[in-house]
Amino acid sequence: MSSAIENLNKKSVYVSTYGCQMNKNDSERMYSLLEMSNYVPVTTPDQASLIIINSCSVREKPVHKVHSEVGRYRKLKEKNPNLKIGVAGCVAQQEKKKLFKDVPNLDFVFGPDNIDELPSLVSQLEQGDEKVVSARFHHQKPYQIETLIRNPGVASFVNITKGCDNFCTFCVVPFTRGRERSRSLKELILDINTLVKRGVKEVTLLGQNVNSYKSNCGVNFSGLLKAVAEDTDIERIRYTTSHPKDFDLELAQVMQKYREKVCDYVHLPVQSGNSEVLKRMNRGYTREEFIDKALMIKETIPGVSFSSDIIVGFPGETEEQFEETLSLLDIVQFESLYSFMYSPRPFTKAAKFEDQLSEKEKSARLHRLFDYHGAIATELSKKYVGKTLKVLVENQDEKTNRLIGRSTQNKAVHFLGDKALVGQTVEVKIIQSFAQTLRGELP
Ligand code: SAH
Ligand code: SF4
Ligand code: F3S
Repeated sequence: MSSAIENLNKKSVYVSTYGCQMNKNDSERMYSLLEMSNYVPVTTPDQASLIIINSCSVREKPVHKVHSEVGRYRKLKEKNPNLKIGVAGCVAQQEKKKLFKDVPNLDFVFGPDNIDELPSLVSQLEQGDEKVVSARFHHQKPYQIETLIRNPGVASFVNITKGCDNFCTFCVVPFTRGRERSRSLKELILDINTLVKRGVKEVTLLGQNVNSYKSNCGVNFSGLLKAVAEDTDIERIRYTTSHPKDFDLELAQVMQKYREKVCDYVHLPVQSGNSEVLKRMNRGYTREEFIDKALMIKETIPGVSFSSDIIVGFPGETEEQFEETLSLLDIVQFESLYSFMYSPRPFTKAAKFEDQLSEKEKSARLHRLFDYHGAIATELSKKYVGKTLKVLVENQDEKTNRLIGRSTQNKAVHFLGDKALVGQTVEVKIIQSFAQTLRGELP
C-alpha cells in the first residue's frame, strides 16, 4: 500500500494492452519513452498517475471495452483528480476525438502513428490542457524507429513494416494503421545487432504483411531475411505475418538455405477454404492457389510446420462453402489455428454486404471448426514423440519449475532442467504430445 501512495506522488504510468504483437511492441515503446520523461512504470493501475489503454479494434465491441475499462478507473480518478487517462492504438485511430463523447473521464487520445509524440502530449496535460488528441498519419515521413523494449528477454519482436495496403474487405487495419511503410535495411540490421548485445537470441520480424517489405534501396523480404541471417549474430529468426498471395519460391528457398537460423515455421493465414468467399474477401488467391503454395513451401522446406487464421461466417458463406474450409484442413495440415467469427468493422466493405449471418450460425460454425481442427492438431503433434528437438529456453514456470521453450517449428516444449539454461538452445527428447504443447526431457 505504501508503495502505491509513493508511486502516486511520483509520475508513474500503467499501460493496458489489447490486440496483436504490434500493439505489445507499441506499449513497450510508450513505457520506454515515458521513462525518459521521468515516469516510473508500474504494474497495476491503482499505482499510476497516468493510465494508457492501448486498444484493438480488429473484432467486436472495441469501443465498449474501452468504455468499461475507463469506467473501472472512476474511483481511482475520484481519489486522485490528477490521474490522467488516455486511449491509444486502433480504437483511438478509428474514433479520434469522438471517443471523448462516448467515454467520459478520458483525458487524451492518440493514434499508432503518434506514439513518439507521447512525451509532448503528456506535458500538455501536465500544463493543464484538456481533451488532448493526436491521431494523424505521418505518411510522408520515412518509417524510422529504433526498437524500444525495456527488458527484451530471450525472444523479441522487431517491426519491419507498418500499415497495410491490402484492404481485405473484412479488415479494419488499413484504416487504423494507415499506408504500408518499410524500415530501412541498414537500420534494421543495426537494431537487431543491438538486441543481440542485450542478450536476445531470437527475433520475430513483424509486419501486417511482411512479404511486401521493400527497403528504400529496393531489397525485398527474402533479401532482408538473408541479410539478417548473414549480417547479424542473432541465433534464430522468425517472421509474421506473411500473406499467401505474396509468398514466393524465392522466400521458401531462402528459408531452406538459412535453416540453421530461420525457423521451420510459416504462419500463413488462409481465412477461408472457398474460392468464392476468398474473392469476396479480396484476398488475392483461390483455394487451389493457396494449396499449391503450401505444397511448394512443404517441398522446398521439408519438415516445415504451418499455422493459420480462419474467419467463419463471412457474409454470404453457405454451409457448402464452410465445409470447404474444413476440407482444406485435411489437405494443408496446420499445427495451430486461430479462428474467429466474422465481425463487421467500421469503414470496411464487407460490413455493408447484405447477407450477414446470424451470431448463432457463426458461433455454431466456429465450434465445429475448433473440434475439427482439434483432432487434426492432436494427431499432428504425435509425430514429435520420440524425436529430439532443438529448443530455445525462454523461461521457467515458477509453480512447476519446468523450463519452457519453443522448437524451431514453434511448438511449446516443457521439460525439467536448471534455470541456468534459460537463453540457451538445448536438445530435448519429446516424451509426450498434446494438441498445442509437447513434454520432453533432457537426454
Ligand atoms: N495481416 C494479417 C492479419 C491481421 S488481423 C493477415 O493478413 O493475415 C489478424 C486476424 O484477425 C486475421 O488474420 C483475421 O483472421 C482476423 N480478423 C481480421 N478482421 C476480422 C473481422 N472483421 N472479423 C473476424 N476476424 C477478423
Ligand atoms: Fe487486414 Fe488483409 Fe491487411 Fe491482413 S492483409 S492487415 S487481413 S487488410
Ligand atoms: Fe493489431 Fe488490433 Fe490494430 S490486431 S493492428 S491492434 S486492430
